Amino acid sequence: MTLRTLIYGARQIVTVTHNNGEKMLCGKDMHNIGIMKSDTVGLSLMIENENIIAIGTDDDIARTFEGVEVNEKIDASGCCILPGFVDAHTHPIWAGDRVHEYAKKLAGATYMEIMREGGGIGFTVEQTRLATDKDLLVSLVARLKRMLCAGTTYVECKTGYGLEWPDELRLLKLLEQARSHIPIGISITYCGAHAVPKNKTAEEMTDDIVNNQIKALKKLMDNKELNVSDIDVFCEKGVYDTEQSRRILLAGKQIGLEANFHGDELNYTGSAEMGAEIGARAISHLECISDEGIHAMAKAKTIGVILPHTGYLLRIELPPVRKMIDAGVPIALGTDANPNAFSSAMSISMNLACVLCHMTLEEALAAATINSAAALGISDKYGSIEVGKKADLIICRCPSWEHIIYQFGDHTHLIRNVIKHGTIV
Ligand code: NIG
Ligand code: FE
Repeated sequence: MTLRTLIYGARQIVTVTHNNGEKMLCGKDMHNIGIMKSDTVGLSLMIENENIIAIGTDDDIARTFEGVEVNEKIDASGCCILPGFVDAHTHPIWAGDRVHEYAKKLAGATYMEIMREGGGIGFTVEQTRLATDKDLLVSLVARLKRMLCAGTTYVECKTGYGLEWPDELRLLKLLEQARSHIPIGISITYCGAHAVPKNKTAEEMTDDIVNNQIKALKKLMDNKELNVSDIDVFCEKGVYDTEQSRRILLAGKQIGLEANFHGDELNYTGSAEMGAEIGARAISHLECISDEGIHAMAKAKTIGVILPHTGYLLRIELPPVRKMIDAGVPIALGTDANPNAFSSAMSISMNLACVLCHMTLEEALAAATINSAAALGISDKYGSIEVGKKADLIICRCPSWEHIIYQFGDHTHLIRNVIKHGTIV
């Protein structure tokens, strides 16, 4: 059965890609995104089943589809249509919170000081292990719902608060289950190397992941019990060093996972150079990236996932994003939503990226849509408004699309509808 939905009357449609078919945008292309505007006539978008099949003025679309049955009509008069946001980096499955550490951080304690005292990820791991499956699933779905309401239609979800294999496996299975509870798109990343558990060294953990966990994971993927896309490691001084990280990522690549990891965040570790060398699809954070790392990533077209929430919260210097864009590194955005940086709104991530990282509004939107989709390897279907792509859209009540970034924190008021695969959710 064919189901058609027409959205009509829009003031602007932000398509994001300009030539259609781009898988990601780099350099000046990030700024020159496609935007259809009209003050005199309305703009329409026709959806057939889950896909966008036509974009044009109301008159053009009415003429093209004259006599064709349309099941649902959505009046978007006075509104702007944007692609749904793709959040390229989150840690959404955990129990407890770390509000007690927030005051400590505001008083000057660093992330690593708190982690060394047994707080930080270690604290969340303890709380997560104590929680029941039901509690973890309920809180996970509630967080994903909050993201969906804030316009995120696809999200990367990492494990990482289990650390030991049985606990990590539980988180993987719960992430898998969440797919049937909420219509948001989920890309699962295995992040067993998020920290080093108390009873092991980083080298022992690396050996365990490379020799045992990866094999177990492959079996579950082959059996179609799990659909995991990427492998991650916290490549950081005092956590996993660059060589251990390389081993973990390469082991993941051997079973078909893409390398997509935390690097050069609090200290320079050569993560960017290493990631580019092994063909990582994306590297997150990069606050301490070197010039060599920037050039290596630009050459390899490894995507830099910028997480401005985290730098803002930890009061650390943000990555040299202008330099990275000018050098040709494709830049994506994520929220990093986790108990340290407890926020999951992509519109806030874009606002911080503009104010703190000196990105233009257009660059921020490209980074939050087509490029973040590319960071997850899904930009052939998601991340822009193009004929043939999935109809993941947001309809915003505002005179021009920039308001979604400009009206800082007011996204829930601005977003009138979130559309996933052609259906209002
Ligand atoms: O991306 N750096 C490692 N992981 C997260 C923080 C997770 C946590 O503190 O719980 C990050 O910032
Ligand atoms: Fe993270």
